[in-house]
Amino acid sequence: PSIAAIVPAAGSGQRMASKIPKQYLQLAGKTVLEHSLHALTQDSRISKIYLALSAEDTFFSALQLQLPIPVIPVVGGASRAASVLAGVEQARLDGVAYVVVHDAARPCLQADELSKVIDVALTHPQGALLALPVADTMKRSDAQNAVRHSVKREHLWHALTPQVFALQPLLNALVSLGVDHPELTDEASAIELSGGKPQLVAGRRTNIKVTQPGDEQLADMYLKFFAT
Ligand code: CTP
Ligand code: MG
Repeated sequence: PSIAAIVPAAGSGQRMASKIPKQYLQLAGKTVLEHSLHALTQDSRISKIYLALSAEDTFFSALQLQLPIPVIPVVGGASRAASVLAGVEQARLDGVAYVVVHDAARPCLQADELSKVIDVALTHPQGALLALPVADTMKRSDAQNAVRHSVKREHLWHALTPQVFALQPLLNALVSLGVDHPELTDEASAIELSGGKPQLVAGRRTNIKVTQPGDEQLADMYLKFFAT
């Protein structure tokens, strides 16, 4: 089947609050975005990458990408889901059958976890996502941060990316829910809200999302470690 990656990179990085948008911060000699794109080329089943950029992006055109597969820019939207939808719509016009959606802000994705989630998605009709079993004891609090109760961590996971789905059901779900749906925080939730049950695939703890100040140092450390 024709498999393409969709990379939402149109966010403004409010929580990181860096001078340069976080996807363009330099880590281990390349931008966060370049690391994320490069990671996706590690599985030869991915034939191209649809990259959702902000309409105001002034950084992408300055990059000298050196990738073995085409990168097709599309204009992203006001929400992550809107940016993903823009990529998925273009991919559909190009006859793509499966999409591998991966955050631009996850530069530390490794080849083995990428291949594993694609393998599972191709045999599982409702798709698959990388996820991490929760390791800590979990508490639910009230609004004043007083503990109400502990939550069993059994069967509790952190959702990561990539998330891999057959294109048409994901497109149908995004369109019918609408990209401003408040519970639409990843692609798996679009499938879930449409009644599907995507399969969780254990990813690596190193596959962090660069979200808050300090995360970029950790990602930099992982990338340098992987390179040695
Ligand atoms: N993203 C996007 N379009 C949006 C919002 C987010 O393409 N309208 C992308 C981001 O660029 C990022 C990924 O979705 O690669 C995950 O989102 P997040 O980590 O939340 O990034 P931001 O939205 O940029 O950060 P923040 O929520 O702190 O503003
Ligand atoms: Mg965000």
